[in-house]
Amino acid sequence: MKILILGGGGREHALAWAISQNPKCTSLLCAPGNAGIAEIATCVALNIDDGEAVAAFAKAQAVDFVIIGPEAPLALGVADALRGEGILCFGPTADAAQLEASKSFTKEICAACNAPTADYAFFTDPGKARDYVEQQGAPIVIKADGLAAGKGVTVAMNVADALQALDDIFASPGGAVVVEEFMQGEEASFFVLSDGKTALPIGSAQDHKRAFDGDKGPNTGGMGAYSPAPIMTGAVTKKAMDEIVNPTLAEMARRGTPFQGVLFVGLMIRGGQPRLVEFNVRFGDPEIQTIAMRLGGQVLDLLLATAEGTLDQISVNWADDHALTIVMAAKGYPGAYKKGETIRGLGERSPQVKVFHAGTVKSGADILSNGGRVLAITARGKTLQDAHDRAYARLKRINWPGGFARSDIGWRAL
Ligand code: AMP
Ligand code: GLY
Repeated sequence: MKILILGGGGREHALAWAISQNPKCTSLLCAPGNAGIAEIATCVALNIDDGEAVAAFAKAQAVDFVIIGPEAPLALGVADALRGEGILCFGPTADAAQLEASKSFTKEICAACNAPTADYAFFTDPGKARDYVEQQGAPIVIKADGLAAGKGVTVAMNVADALQALDDIFASPGGAVVVEEFMQGEEASFFVLSDGKTALPIGSAQDHKRAFDGDKGPNTGGMGAYSPAPIMTGAVTKKAMDEIVNPTLAEMARRGTPFQGVLFVGLMIRGGQPRLVEFNVRFGDPEIQTIAMRLGGQVLDLLLATAEGTLDQISVNWADDHALTIVMAAKGYPGAYKKGETIRGLGERSPQVKVFHAGTVKSGADILSNGGRVLAITARGKTLQDAHDRAYARLKRINWPGGFARSDIGWRAL
């Protein structure tokens, strides 16, 4: 089977690595890919946000299955374009991708199906939003209504910061904002495949959003993760499925926009009760690095069953193991950073450790940094401590003075 993966980050490298181990995969393409992905797939230049271009390419290359990694092409209807041409694809329609693209849409769905989440109010009028924030007080959460690549959320500890966040959002025309109750608790990322009829949980992870040790510094796309998340006990998982995931999927189907793909359920858990922080309609990065490391080649069977509507006929084969990933980012990230620095020490091979590339490019024989998050050093082990020690030992042997990583990934669970 000829497979095309869209995207070029650590998430896509982890997916490509897992999928390439499945004998069903006879040919693997990735657009645009990166230097790590190029070792196991043919990387192609393609505007992955352009559904017609992607569908035309897939047809011309006789691709059997397309896997859409990032949220932007999903929100832009690339999955619709592919299905319109009869091409099998993993990822929701643009309508169903609203679960990530629009915070207010998700809030409406939660209200319609009674899913536990933060209380909120929605504003397109800056004056009314300011009045509401002043009346509610802090802490309070301000979310721009639209895809913002992780930058649209301000958790404001005082009213001045909240008002500043409103000013920033309303500075651009058409600003719209969700103002939310601040929820306390512990966060977990929970992943559920859905083919529109059947939902299949495929694991949990915990992410580290802040840039620096001790959960200090600015919010990032994620500096490390581990799987499974100990807080996702059987009881919490059951509540999340019964009260949030299944009602949401049923409501989406009822509206005529069934969800097919992976639902990334961001949860806040307190006293055994999960509440929804947000949905994403794609795999988490770097969470999938840990989950793919644990699932291996069966990732392809799971994604195929999702796309073909046969999730009721498949189950997940879990090894009783743990995985942990450490992101190595360019100094300065998530602010300004340098690109084009040589990274050494990437050659080693081990079945228990993988250095996934997130933002790299090849130049002659050299691998150069080419993004904010650059590498995701991922290890598995019998225990989380094993996985942790292996990943940190591997990190030490990477030679890139311009990079940094947190030294405390997994602290909460260890
Ligand atoms: P989001 O992009 O919606 O995931 O928000 C980014 C981060 O902000 C989340 O991972 C949480 O850490 C935090 N956050 C978002 N909404 C809330 C909330 N209502 N209460 C507390 N923290 C929140
Ligand atoms: N690691 C969080 C995300 O992928 O959105």
